Amino acid sequence: MAATTGSTAPVKGITAQGLRKSYAEKVVLDGIDIQVPEGTVYALLGPNGAGKTTTVHILATLISHDAGEARIAGHDLDQEPDAVRASIGVTGQFAAVDGLLTAEENILLMADLQHLDKAEGERRAAELLERFDLAEVAKKHASTFSGGMRRKLDLAMTLVGKPQIIFLDEPTTGLDPRSRRSMWDVIRGLVADGVTIFLTTQYLEEADQLADRIAVLDYGKIVAEGTADELKRRIPGGHIRLRFNDIQHMDAAAQRLALSTVTRDDESLSLQIPSDGSIPALRAVLDILEGSGIHAEALTVQTPDLDDVFLALTGHGRKPAPAEDRPEAKR
Ligand SMILES: Nc1ncnc2c1ncn2[C@@H]1O[C@H](COP(=O)(O)OP(=O)(O)OP(=O)(O)O)[C@@H](O)[C@H]1O
Ligand SMILES: [Mg+2]
Repeated sequence: MAATTGSTAPVKGITAQGLRKSYAEKVVLDGIDIQVPEGTVYALLGPNGAGKTTTVHILATLISHDAGEARIAGHDLDQEPDAVRASIGVTGQFAAVDGLLTAEENILLMADLQHLDKAEGERRAAELLERFDLAEVAKKHASTFSGGMRRKLDLAMTLVGKPQIIFLDEPTTGLDPRSRRSMWDVIRGLVADGVTIFLTTQYLEEADQLADRIAVLDYGKIVAEGTADELKRRIPGGHIRLRFNDIQHMDAAAQRLALSTVTRDDESLSLQIPSDGSIPALRAVLDILEGSGIHAEALTVQTPDLDDVFLALTGHGRKPAPAEDRPEAKR
């Protein structure tokens, strides 16, 4: 029978309360709370320097924290770090792949570190190489791999020990859209197998696509937490965009539509009108234009996305460093 502390059943996912971390004078984590139910995906979203990697490193027992407590897979982070380590896998922001080894050798090395016997290690390596579409390049040196292949190999290495909980620190930064999608599929597959995923990302779309719950971290504080829909609902950001062929029609439209709320862009000859994007709202705009004989070239509806949420909450939208500035892109 599992031992329990207190009256509540042990939570098998991740819980943390009041995590704090400072380096000298600099407060990096200013008391953060996290709840990740077992078998779900939690995305920690934040700009460069927000404290994402620090959070992952603390929860994965790689660095110490100054205050607060956490339980990972039912184990206390401070009291049972070995049990925590045995339950988790970590794929870091910068791939841990050894370029001088082949894909297969990298996985076998992990199997060795996990104390799997030789036959079991080989079986596991073959299975993972197959699963990650790396079987054909199993005997090639990892130094010849693309960024996406490296990322997949890195994750395959993390999975050797069949962890219940996986930390993925920016799993798709620097990947092209196709590799990103393929990584998303891999992550979804893990979730389908019941794995709990804690991921960090600077990509709002990634959090939107994958996460059950999203927390926005900014300057060491969680400034918002919820499902993607809950976060989107918190802020207005939806609008209708009308594009015109000439400035006269645009001027006329700007006059007829509620002046105070319309934003105009003279360069692209377009107007932006705050709107929930519903059919009655669209019809009202179209009726005004038609009634005044104004011709609009195109109409698009923009519902608020996580970018709007991010901008509203952090006051400084998403600004990932250019790919060439990111260390992993250079390797
Ligand atoms: N060992 C350290 N010594 C001093 N400061 C550190 C150390 N590690 C991290 N920091 C600082 O803590 C802050 C948070 O860093 P962290 O790496 O957690 O951010 P991040 O959200 O992962 O950013 P990125 O998106 O760039 O990966 C940064 O200001 C960083 O300079
Ligand atoms: Mg980081």
